[in-house]
Amino acid sequence: MSDGSWWKRGVIYQVYPRSFQDSNDDGIGDLEGVRRRLDYFVWLGVDAIWLSPIFVSPMADFGYDVADYQAVDPIFGSLADFDRLLAQAHARGLRVVLDFVPNHTSIEHEWFRESRACRDNPKRDWYIWRDPAPDGGPPNNWLSNFGGPGWTRDSLTGQYYYHAFLPQQPDLNWRNPLVREAMFDVLRFWLDRGVDGFRVDVLWHLIKDEWFRDNPPNLGYDAHQAEIQRHLQVHSADQPEVHEVVAQMRGVIDAYPERVLIGEIYLPIERLVAYYGRDLSGAHLPFNFQLIQTAWNAHEIAALIRDYEEALPDGGWPNWVLGNHDQPRIGARVGKRQARVAAMLLLTLRGTPTLYYGDEICLCKVDVPPEQVQDPWEKNEPGRGLGRDPERTPMQWDASAFAGFSARAPWLPLDPDHERCNVARLSEDQGSILTLYRRLLVARRAHAGLCLGDYAQLAVAEPDVIAYERARGADRLIVVLNLGREPREVHLPQTDDRRSVMLSTFLDREGEPVGRSVSLRADEGVILRYC
Ligand code: NOJ
Repeated sequence: MSDGSWWKRGVIYQVYPRSFQDSNDDGIGDLEGVRRRLDYFVWLGVDAIWLSPIFVSPMADFGYDVADYQAVDPIFGSLADFDRLLAQAHARGLRVVLDFVPNHTSIEHEWFRESRACRDNPKRDWYIWRDPAPDGGPPNNWLSNFGGPGWTRDSLTGQYYYHAFLPQQPDLNWRNPLVREAMFDVLRFWLDRGVDGFRVDVLWHLIKDEWFRDNPPNLGYDAHQAEIQRHLQVHSADQPEVHEVVAQMRGVIDAYPERVLIGEIYLPIERLVAYYGRDLSGAHLPFNFQLIQTAWNAHEIAALIRDYEEALPDGGWPNWVLGNHDQPRIGARVGKRQARVAAMLLLTLRGTPTLYYGDEICLCKVDVPPEQVQDPWEKNEPGRGLGRDPERTPMQWDASAFAGFSARAPWLPLDPDHERCNVARLSEDQGSILTLYRRLLVARRAHAGLCLGDYAQLAVAEPDVIAYERARGADRLIVVLNLGREPREVHLPQTDDRRSVMLSTFLDREGEPVGRSVSLRADEGVILRYC
């Protein structure tokens, strides 16, 4: 298949470096660990790895608080380790995407140290400083995404600085052109080293309301939600001027061939698609998290796919995500049986899929006892199910004491089930979810219809079922998914061709002829081909 950039044809795999593979037995994953697992990515059949932040950081938010954008945190290794990883990934035909965190730095970043020193410091305006409100309180009502106010008063100068996340993560002022240039230089630093692109953290946050108006109350707020939900984030994010910044960022990337710009954006579809930019001058892939946010039922998901496809701008390439390091794992949300159907959905929809490490072995929610909690959000708003530790537990490679992740107890607990749920064991099992992922990835590579083809939803009458066709030229495939717990006999709208099962999520029906209808077991999905 010659057409389509790698990021359109390919599949991205997210590695959370702390949790993937420890090479020096300190209980925390590192770059050398990832390097040692490069053959795994090839074996699995993915095309690119995205590494969550690896830069120098005090780790208040596990690397999303960067103190030096141009150096690797010693906990993960060194720049030399990174270069080696990159070279060896490239030698295997794998791309490497870095996580770029431009909205905020760490309070320990040299820029912030300078900025906070005094009001007339040349870097003062690199961050967002405001005088107190007349009552001495914060300048407006903006909240932190991790609970509490979004403003912290600095006693040194008596002003408040804004932080959309932790107080240790002050927001940069992206209205300042010097900030833009400094951050674009960071991109160039890594592009020059050969990285294949960036996933940009909270891209929709970069620009805030010029007048710092209060956010309006969220009238639908209920006390179970995170505190940030008290307000609608009308003025603190997704401002129209952000698109100019995204286009500039894209300009930096485009000076290098075949690089990708991916934006982390949690917005409803109609606002999300604006991040493709005017004439597609924005992000190549504004992350589409709708499968995470939509209830797992056929009706809603079919409507979601339709709405998303319809909302895409001309030429805008779709993408789909089932999970990441901030969201409950797919296996925990829909259960182990439906996790297989979800895998088939993710890997057969039109657009670039991003897999989250461990979903291929169906890592589920790991309960983290209060004394072992790591996530600052859980610490700030405990016991409300907001914490992200359960989806960040170590990868399970084998049945050994620490699952082949490390020789000592890892930074987060392992799933007690790791003796059964691990790569070594599941790779031997021809019926496992890991085998299913591999088979889906092989099918996607082999079929232009699946990786680059058109998408057409098929009308089926049976409840709990989604059906669609993917086609490119003569390569036509039909996908039929049963999202329910009842078996279904699904009548297919097109009856003129003979078809057979190419792949079932149960991995046991290959070649079975299918006529006017296909019978699906509970929790089964199939890909049909024409014969
Ligand atoms: C989004 C990241 O994915 C999340 O892990 C982080 O806490 C926030 N942005 C702040 O950087």
